[in-house]
Amino acid sequence: MLTNTHPKLGTLSVWAGEEEYLLQGATQAPVVHSVSFGYNDVDEWLQVALGQKPGHIYGRNTNPTVQIFEEKVRRLEGAEAATSASTGMGIISNALFTLLSPGDRVVSVKDTYGGTNKIFIEFLPRFQVDVALCDTADHEAIEAEVAKGCKALYLESPTNPTVKVIDLARLAKAGREVGAVVIVDNTFATPINQNPLELGADLVLHSATKFLGGHADALGGVICGSKELVEQIYHFREINGATLHPMAAYLLLRGMKTLHLRIRQQNESALKIARFLETHPAIKRVFYPGLESHQNHDIARQQMRGFGGVLSFILKGNDFDAVRAFLPRLRYAHAAANLGAVETIVGPPATTSHVECTREEREAMGIPESLIRYSVGIEDTEDLIADLEQALAYVR
Ligand SMILES: Cc1ncc(COP(=O)(O)O)c(C=O)c1O
Repeated sequence: MLTNTHPKLGTLSVWAGEEEYLLQGATQAPVVHSVSFGYNDVDEWLQVALGQKPGHIYGRNTNPTVQIFEEKVRRLEGAEAATSASTGMGIISNALFTLLSPGDRVVSVKDTYGGTNKIFIEFLPRFQVDVALCDTADHEAIEAEVAKGCKALYLESPTNPTVKVIDLARLAKAGREVGAVVIVDNTFATPINQNPLELGADLVLHSATKFLGGHADALGGVICGSKELVEQIYHFREINGATLHPMAAYLLLRGMKTLHLRIRQQNESALKIARFLETHPAIKRVFYPGLESHQNHDIARQQMRGFGGVLSFILKGNDFDAVRAFLPRLRYAHAAANLGAVETIVGPPATTSHVECTREEREAMGIPESLIRYSVGIEDTEDLIADLEQALAYVR
């Protein structure tokens, strides 16, 4: 049995969570669309409702297909418990609004995903939560803010879209010293490349919409950690109703069976492409944690098993007109607001990661308008490089 051994990440991607729920010899997880679950025995019904017996009552609370998805991610992240939400933002807002109350303080970084940043600058202050956002690269400044005391420390690494890397073990230690709950958005790394709980974080979360699902056909979010913390987040989510749909859970589960293969390919391709772009005369700057020139390359090498499938770059001249000319020339890339899929996806922050932010807000976060985020798919690396080459020639 899978549960009695120590399977590696690839085996877990394929098998974890599923074997207990297979029906009547089916080899694939069932998609249970039923909204409610009936009981002939009222006492059994009551036991399930009180959590004294496993089972389901109502689809807003729990669902068998959703539970399999949560279980697979829980095993991959090596956590005690996991719960999910309808989107990545659903799980991020549920976590923050569960843990924080008026008068509390939260410390984070300026470079979080645009939607997360909006929670910090627009919504939490409305509930009298004090938010301190530090320069992402400045570990001393983050430690100093944490040392003043905070209820939660929220980190993302690598960040979207400039792929900065934060020393998670160092900052988790700082957070724990003041009793803060340390939360890490692991969307860009995936559990194949990095396990923040092993580095000392209390909670690890994902936009499952991205690499976990990997096929750009289902939205979802998931968070893992101790039973105590996850149950609190689950309770808030079951009441506010941001539930993951069973069909989305199935699509995410199916996608996750190839997670390790996709990530392996994407790690390898992204590094080759980053090296190619770094030496190209039309490119001003490339951001990728696997490059020796990356400001946090040493930290990345220490805490990541691979450097991920996303890189970003700036064209020479730092000119948005060049971006306008370049993007439509790419043959093997969707120009779209997503990442982490089997197809390569490309776009500038103004229409992707930071579409909800104003130009001034992006500037304050240090995100150049003419940055191009390039999420490497699973196409042949040589074809992607040739595609970039021809599009760059056109720009020049
Ligand atoms: C790092 C990161 N976290 C969270 C999210 C939000 O996820 P979702 O779009 O599933 O709500 C995104 C979306 O791009 C992301 O890139």
